[in-house]
Amino acid sequence: MSLTRRKLLLNIVSGFSVAGLIALLFPFLKGIVPTLKKEEAKEIDVSAMKEGEAKTVRWKGRNVLIVKRHPDFISKHSSHLKNLIDPFSRNSSQPEFANGHRRSDRDNYLVVYSYCTLLSCELKRLQIETEKGDVFSGFFCPCDGSRYDTSGRVIAGSAAKYNLSIPNYEHVSESRIRLTGV
Ligand code: FES
Repeated sequence: MSLTRRKLLLNIVSGFSVAGLIALLFPFLKGIVPTLKKEEAKEIDVSAMKEGEAKTVRWKGRNVLIVKRHPDFISKHSSHLKNLIDPFSRNSSQPEFANGHRRSDRDNYLVVYSYCTLLSCELKRLQIETEKGDVFSGFFCPCDGSRYDTSGRVIAGSAAKYNLSIPNYEHVSESRIRLTGV
């Protein structure tokens, strides 16, 4: 094979490798790379949400999950807390109002960024079957199986080590939430 042909082939192969690597890393990168587009605060209508339901909204280049949860599902029991890596969210990225066990401004709504804190995979919601039907029971990462409770606190044994990040927001009324900052 001539030197020029070999060089051309090498260029093609290395081009494919770079494209393949970018395609492989895209799901991880899209969660952590902020967009440059500047958006204002965003208001979300939650009036139609039923208990256990989740809503995903796109904000500042990232997905935010709003879950309507029953206050009874905020776990404060010591038997549960000892299974959490950071039960009091000391190492979490969250506004001050989210410091307690509920990690939210109000008991019945949880607002979190919908990415696993290990490599930013998009989370899935966990449901458990009860007599009353399916209820919200936390989150699951499809990449490496990390699990988070109903307040977005990471469960011991998970590959991820940090609780879910929480944006700054406020309840404008019973039916509206406004996202105001990271
Ligand atoms: S990215 Fe979530 S456990 Fe790997």
